[in-house]
Amino acid sequence: MTICNIHTTKDKAHKLCQASTVILEKDFNSIWLKDLANNLRDTMNQSKATGIAAPQIGVNRCVIAFGGRPSLNFPEFDEPFTILINPSYEILGKTQAQVWEHCLSMPGKRGYTLRANRIRYQGYDLGGQKISAETSGILAVLLQHEIDHLQGILFNEHVKNKTEFGDIAYFEQVLGKRHHIEDGLKVLAGE
Ligand code: NI
Repeated sequence: MTICNIHTTKDKAHKLCQASTVILEKDFNSIWLKDLANNLRDTMNQSKATGIAAPQIGVNRCVIAFGGRPSLNFPEFDEPFTILINPSYEILGKTQAQVWEHCLSMPGKRGYTLRANRIRYQGYDLGGQKISAETSGILAVLLQHEIDHLQGILFNEHVKNKTEFGDIAYFEQVLGKRHHIEDGLKVLAGE
């Protein structure tokens, strides 16, 4: 088991704002790619997170991981553990979702973001088999968050109202509630 150091925006030399490079066909099934996947799984589980992207452990390659076991932060999130390589998504419909997001790479911060509520995502498993599915709600938001990491984009860029991004301690003081993703997702009807 390998628990990696999670890179945060507080680290001087972090590469969280850089775009990641894609995994080439010849690298599917390779030992280093499997090692990277295992490191993502172990580090995500250790952090009790629901998702993680390779740049967060200092590897600027297009690999994300999510799901796996009931999350302590979000017990209703019940997705099988998935490694998604070279992931992408397209937005389906105009319905949007608002949710309090957080990120291992921005510890202590929360932000109320606006995202697409429904997407079709695709990518590949470790063996190069294509994965493609439609999803909505929390998983759709989570995938947009993780795939953003591969473009060097952090969730604060999706916060519409600047007063709704800041320290968790501040929100707890002012609003008197926890601000985690499990606080619920508000779906805004599309046109
Ligand atoms: Ni994140």
